[in-house]
Amino acid sequence: MIMSLDGAELTWLGHASFVLKSPGGRYIVFDPWLEGNPKCPQEFYNWDKADYILLTHGHFDHMGSAEMLAKKTGATVISNFEIATYLASLGVANTIGMNKGGTLEFGDIKITMVYADHSSGISTDAGIIYGGEAAGFVVTLENGLSIYHAGDTNVFGDMTLIKTLYAPDVVLLPIGGHYTMSPKEAAYAVDLLEPKVVIPMHYGTFDALKGSPDALKDLLADKPVTLEVLQPGQQYR
Ligand code: NI
Ligand code: MN
Repeated sequence: MIMSLDGAELTWLGHASFVLKSPGGRYIVFDPWLEGNPKCPQEFYNWDKADYILLTHGHFDHMGSAEMLAKKTGATVISNFEIATYLASLGVANTIGMNKGGTLEFGDIKITMVYADHSSGISTDAGIIYGGEAAGFVVTLENGLSIYHAGDTNVFGDMTLIKTLYAPDVVLLPIGGHYTMSPKEAAYAVDLLEPKVVIPMHYGTFDALKGSPDALKDLLADKPVTLEVLQPGQQYR
């Protein structure tokens, strides 16, 4: 199965960070972690395009560059209530706190927060503070294309609800293991989600994240899905 994003562009910045440019020219940035991210190409350290910044949870490897990017761009940060409130307290001007099941609409773009099976503490100089619950996002673009960023998560049975309710065309799944799914669980997630395209993320960044795209490729060999393995900095369109 071959598909294109029909006018959208998705760029992987390494780990769980992605920039999604919608067909209408809106920039949606998932989990920005730029400088300090061992897999983020240096030319993206000063990335300055964002209309919406989506944060799946409070861990540093997902929101490490969120405050900086939000202040630089004036983008609206969308996350759970606790993280949105925390970033507002740091002086981020535009934040929307939401929770699972909620959908935001910006013109013809819809952003839905969905379940994830993970934790969400925020590391501060004073230690870890409560960061609400981890989540994923389903983004539906102006062209009808639906993209699911799973955040950090184990596989969970209610991925079938995400499939039924939002039918994501493209799914971004963590495969590194240790803190999230490994390829074994991610392959099962593909069975539940039945996407057209799966893009692996959250692997190889640290020694502990041993799950590999090659292992996932073997597990998906007989399934009707396209595995797109991106390199950091590479764009899929
Ligand atoms: Ni995490
Ligand atoms: Mn993580």
